[in-house]
Amino acid sequence: MNVSVDDVPAQPAGKPNQPRYLLRDGELVEYADARLHVLSTTLKYGVGVFEGFRAYWSEEEGQLYGFRLDAHMRRLVESMRVVEIDGPTDVQVLHDQMVELIRANELRQNLHMRAQVFVDSPDGKPEDRGPSTTFMAAIPMGNYFGAKGLDVQISSWTRLSDRSMPPRVKSIANYQNARLALLEARRNGYDAALLMTTEGRVSEGPGYNLFIVRNGRLTTPPVTESILEGVTRDSILQLAKDAGLDVDVRPIDRTELYSAEEAFVCGSAAEVNHLRSVDRIPFGDTNPGPITRQLQEMFRDAVLGRTKHAWTTEIY
Ligand SMILES: Cc1ncc(COP(=O)(O)O)c(C=O)c1O
Repeated sequence: MNVSVDDVPAQPAGKPNQPRYLLRDGELVEYADARLHVLSTTLKYGVGVFEGFRAYWSEEEGQLYGFRLDAHMRRLVESMRVVEIDGPTDVQVLHDQMVELIRANELRQNLHMRAQVFVDSPDGKPEDRGPSTTFMAAIPMGNYFGAKGLDVQISSWTRLSDRSMPPRVKSIANYQNARLALLEARRNGYDAALLMTTEGRVSEGPGYNLFIVRNGRLTTPPVTESILEGVTRDSILQLAKDAGLDVDVRPIDRTELYSAEEAFVCGSAAEVNHLRSVDRIPFGDTNPGPITRQLQEMFRDAVLGRTKHAWTTEIY
């Protein structure tokens, strides 16, 4: 652990959404100094992994809660293993570095945090595994989507498959697939996209997993349906279990989605956001539906540490 809050000068009022410090390999650096060389392997071949996660400020308690920092840092390490990058492996050290970064910036509001591992080899060969550089950032962020719900389009792009790329981890290169789907949906007047698997079943969105409620049963595709293994998805599954809901983890057909009573997407950035329609076919009479609302409320409590699960880190 290289960072100490005591070592850094008092924080001047920073620019909005631009914290004074970022972290490079565990050391605080000024925002403008967190650079990567233009010839890095990451830039040439997209060799890199990242995490995106949240912290929530409770005004009432004067406390900032980091949500499932360990789970995200574990996935960062797993992502490196899968795409063969040599980088940090100690989840506790990564966790503590993120906490210290937030403290150094004296952030007391809702945050989106990032951890990114880039391959920064001077040779720029595709087989480079290192040397890697790890950057972390903690940036103020409110809602990613508004509260009105989302009109989504089933993309004409297929979700990348485990036969060609590793969908379950956060490899930077995967996000070309996500980007194309999102751009297509926006061009066509939708808020967001959902992608199907190569087998023609519903997989997930460009930055969020999918749940539907059909015949009263909460249903989500399994991790073998080309999805990112989302931390929020896992949290929702555990909360649904706590609530005694009927849950199925199984493949979902496109027309099951069309005929669902409720549907929502979830992710660290997206949080739990209901779908208003898919391909312009609206969901249910009340929207968000009762199960979505129940899980939204449970999730809101969970991110502030109000569950039996040890999911939150008190930053201060
Ligand atoms: C492609 C993709 N699917 C799903 C998710 C949701 O994952 P999580 O809940 O871990 O943020 C994300 C966000 O990281 C994502 O990028």
